[in-house]
Amino acid sequence: MALVALASAKGSPGVTTAGLVLGALWPRPVLLAECDPAGSDVAIRMTAPGGQPLNSDRGLISLAAAGRKGLGDDVILAHSQQLDGGLDVMIGVRSAEQIGGMGGLWAPLGISFNQMHSADVLADCGRIGPASPQLPVVQAARLVVMVCTATGSSVAHLRERLASLVHHVDAQLGVIVVADPKRRDGVKQVWSVLDAMSMPIQHRWHLAYDPVGAAFFDGRGHGRLDRTPLIRSATDIAAEMAAVAARPTQRDFDMAQAAFPQSESGYGPATDEWRDGR
Ligand SMILES: Nc1ncnc2c1ncn2[C@@H]1O[C@H](COP(=O)(O)OP(=O)(O)OP(=O)(O)O)[C@@H](O)[C@H]1O
Ligand SMILES: [Mg+2]
Repeated sequence: MALVALASAKGSPGVTTAGLVLGALWPRPVLLAECDPAGSDVAIRMTAPGGQPLNSDRGLISLAAAGRKGLGDDVILAHSQQLDGGLDVMIGVRSAEQIGGMGGLWAPLGISFNQMHSADVLADCGRIGPASPQLPVVQAARLVVMVCTATGSSVAHLRERLASLVHHVDAQLGVIVVADPKRRDGVKQVWSVLDAMSMPIQHRWHLAYDPVGAAFFDGRGHGRLDRTPLIRSATDIAAEMAAVAARPTQRDFDMAQAAFPQSESGYGPATDEWRDGR
């Protein structure tokens, strides 16, 4: 299956909220992995089934201690837990001070997430820059989605970050703009700014700015979540993003070719069917 990395350039545009809502609506099995070195928000905002607190000792740091000999699905899932509502999550570090405990695990972790057999992985990578420790997770993703708002400063920082990120990442790129559903003009302006950069941004989505819906992912929700603009806008985004993530890219093909240089025996992925993602 595939790894999708969600990240931001600056500010708090709603990466964690987008990860939670997209994970809840994902059409295939999915693990939401908190890879934000600034510290976990999910452990604070969300609960386990029955309203029980989540176990903040089970997550990235316990995985780092256990996973030095390998990071198969079983090991990854043993350090994950379920949210009330059923979404599987890998809780991130408690605070930035715990980052040292990850050692050199970010790179193998990203590769393992991208190669899980039983689930896609949505990684909340928080704010990302060229020196960010979690950058290898972003680099391993099949699809990298930057989240911003439709404000001038958010777009300016996104532009700078994308311009630098293209030198570090060769995944497909997408952008989610979090904006009032009525502010389509503002969202169009963001697309114009990105068009003017002639950046290879293949996927563009508008997620509703919706404080009532977002409150459910902040531990403060009341009423019916399913009717909120946030859920309505995220339903289509989750379906489209999952479809993009399901299609192997030329990069996957090249990596597989490197791993299986000869496919004369018929073994290996070098078939048209595989290449086209059919
Ligand atoms: N789509 C949305 N509509 C309305 N409010 C939102 C939305 N997304 C996030 N928020 C609110 O904005 C605040 C920050 O959201 P969130 O934690 O998801 O951002 P973030 O980008 O992950 O921030 P950080 O970089 O600090 O981790 C929260 O109070 C959240 O409820
Ligand atoms: Mg966050």
